[in-house]
Amino acid sequence: MAQIDRCYNIADLRRVARRRLPKGVFEYLDRGSEDEVALAHNRAAYDRLKLKTRVLADLRELSTDVDLLGDASALPLAIAPTGIAGLCSYEGELALAKAAAKAGVPFTLATGSITSMEKIAVEAGGRLWFQLYMWQEEDLSYQLVQRAKDAGFEALVVTVDAALGNNREYNQRNGFSIPFKVSARSIMDMLRHPRWMLTVLGRYLITSGMPRHENYPAKYQHRITRGTGQAKPMRQSAMSWQDIARLREFWPGKFIVKGILRAEDAVLAVEHGADGIVVSNHGGRNLDSSVASIDALPEIVSAVAGRATILLDSGIRRGSDIVKALALGADSVLIGRATLYGISAGGQQGAEKALAILRSELRKTMAYVGCREVSELGPEIVATPPDPPSETAEILP
Ligand code: LAC
Repeated sequence: MAQIDRCYNIADLRRVARRRLPKGVFEYLDRGSEDEVALAHNRAAYDRLKLKTRVLADLRELSTDVDLLGDASALPLAIAPTGIAGLCSYEGELALAKAAAKAGVPFTLATGSITSMEKIAVEAGGRLWFQLYMWQEEDLSYQLVQRAKDAGFEALVVTVDAALGNNREYNQRNGFSIPFKVSARSIMDMLRHPRWMLTVLGRYLITSGMPRHENYPAKYQHRITRGTGQAKPMRQSAMSWQDIARLREFWPGKFIVKGILRAEDAVLAVEHGADGIVVSNHGGRNLDSSVASIDALPEIVSAVAGRATILLDSGIRRGSDIVKALALGADSVLIGRATLYGISAGGQQGAEKALAILRSELRKTMAYVGCREVSELGPEIVATPPDPPSETAEILP
């Protein structure tokens, strides 16, 4: 029996991932910033919300299908961009993208990925979105966006919530960053995980060589073991809404702004042409004092008032979390760590397992609250919704 067959929930997949991955890689994907208050609070925010059940609702036709940004999705869910995927399993981005295609949901490829966007576009199938971190050199950013355009990506997801980088102290302690520095400690860490050495790093070494950030502009595209850190050459601190307007003009497809936690910013995103926004605190990986995205959601939903698709991430580990997010007005969620635990535990099959677990939990929770369609999930099923700001209270559906 494969190990993933003994995984019954996302926490089980996480436990297998923890054993398989070098500590530096595991902690990079799993942990938060500073004192990890936001990370814990993201979970607490969901746990605080309770659902009110409905019975005898005739659920023979229960369906999780949705229209997500104008196209069908089999679940109100897309896979979030995560730069570490390619170190969690060999060509982990491809494993995620194929699992997403099989499950009928979109996959988002991160700027910081190891597998190239062209390879993903040719081999994965399914709906593909590309996440952008801008470079200090504006023309390099546009070259990257042009590549995504040429490769046929459906949506551009611009991440805007990392102005001066982040403060993840455990990464420094582990001697691990992206790119990771080869130190005595990181080498010992890898040696303690021979299976990972063989099936992930070793496989890169005998095929394409030491992994590199294939989507970085040529100038920054060197092996992940040396050279410039990811954050430095990216021009997050210099970015403004003008960049969003220009990118919007340049990008012909669907346009999503990721990392919004305030109604004012959500409105600005809509005014600058966003088709979608992602309400997110970056999985508790950036500002440690950040509000939980589920708590920021109601004021954003009322301010956006249906003018854009609202996605939400940060802390979703159960189908019931998805139900809560949708009940409070999100159109869909993004899943980051859950499917990363999946590929770490078992490659593409592990990601499929993570998606199957979430699908099954989502269906069961929908049944408990008596909803046949995702569109029937509304605030009336939530027993203790977070206090919305007073001026928005009456606008909540
Ligand atoms: C992270 C950044 C790089 O969360 O998006 O690791």
